[in-house]
Amino acid sequence: MDNPFRPSAGATPPHIIGREGLLDEFSYGLSLGSGAPGLLAIFTGARGIGKTVMLGETHDLAREHGWAVIAETATDGFMARIGEAMLQISEELGDGPRTRRITAIAAAGFSITTQLPPERQVAWRNIGEQLLALLDTHGTGLVITVDEIHAANRTELAQLAASVQHFIQDRLPVALVFAGLPAAVSDLLNEGVATFLRRADKIDLHAAAIHEVETSFTETFQEATFSIAPALLRRAAEATGGYPFLIQLVGYFLWREAENHDGVLDGPAVGRAIEAANRRNARTVVEAALSTASPKDLEFLHAMAQDDSAATASDIGRRLGAKSNLVANYRLRLIEEGLIEPAGHGKVDFAIPGLRDYLRSKPTA
Ligand SMILES: Nc1ncnc2c1ncn2[C@@H]1O[C@H](COP(=O)(O)OP(=O)(O)O)[C@@H](O)[C@H]1O
Ligand SMILES: [Mg+2]
Repeated sequence: MDNPFRPSAGATPPHIIGREGLLDEFSYGLSLGSGAPGLLAIFTGARGIGKTVMLGETHDLAREHGWAVIAETATDGFMARIGEAMLQISEELGDGPRTRRITAIAAAGFSITTQLPPERQVAWRNIGEQLLALLDTHGTGLVITVDEIHAANRTELAQLAASVQHFIQDRLPVALVFAGLPAAVSDLLNEGVATFLRRADKIDLHAAAIHEVETSFTETFQEATFSIAPALLRRAAEATGGYPFLIQLVGYFLWREAENHDGVLDGPAVGRAIEAANRRNARTVVEAALSTASPKDLEFLHAMAQDDSAATASDIGRRLGAKSNLVANYRLRLIEEGLIEPAGHGKVDFAIPGLRDYLRSKPTA
């Protein structure tokens, strides 16, 4: 049996832990068709929490129901790419005269890098309408997912939302599912870029419960006939904090240790696996998250890292010798970036596991 763990962005894990029931409404929506509330959803959560994996689940469900799927990421030009994808599906469904008409509409193509100019928007909508009408006659529909919408060009997003709203008003079978970092997504909705998106089901993803991780590890290692004591499984599960990316990393390195030691995992082996997982987490998620942080951001984060848990704005301000409005500005910025999150009573905490330890291990000059 090969190592089943998948510590890599967007990769489907062996068990999807702690997400029971989250897609029930979406799934029900697929059977109802146009206008069902579950067909409009937004996944939010920190980096590595499993948003892209959940989008993948919506694709699988959609295909099981016979729906067509367009999966996009919100880098510039996603409207154009969705347009191209709709055309391609129309062509694959091949429906004589209708397809020719669609092809004529799209003759100029959508291959541009920014938002669609007005005439292309009209073409986009026509293609969408015709495709959806065609899918409707087959008793199915189209699921469009857009990942990383925190980085989306606002105009493009508004165009997509307006068009989908229009399809829904026309009772066409369409679903729209987004994923992005929480603070940025709530800003987007509050800015009124796409008021209609406020109706979407907001599904905030959190870390899984430790006992669920423990159960999953137990099953996976039993299946592989590896030998590991229950207390060590518990220790490994706790080391993940229930955080999906760390679940995959810890599982992956446990598996490697077992392979190297005839299927036996003792205390030192589990310790090595946890350490390797934390190192890899620091090098990938933590460093990627910090790559856009300015020196001032880093000062703020280091001031926070002095606390063992959530920090208050006044403590941070005192440590930085900074005015409260400055602290408030940085606080907001870092929340937007998905590095920290509000933790009640005016406190903030790190949004990424391992970030505190990483900062402590790298004191500022
Ligand atoms: N529910 C889950 N249970 C276990 N592992 C998961 C789960 N969701 C995601 N993962 C794993 O976590 C990592 C990050 O998932 P990903 O969907 O890329 O997160 P995000 O898009 O939020 O950054 C991947 O290695 C993936 O296999
Ligand atoms: Mg992702």
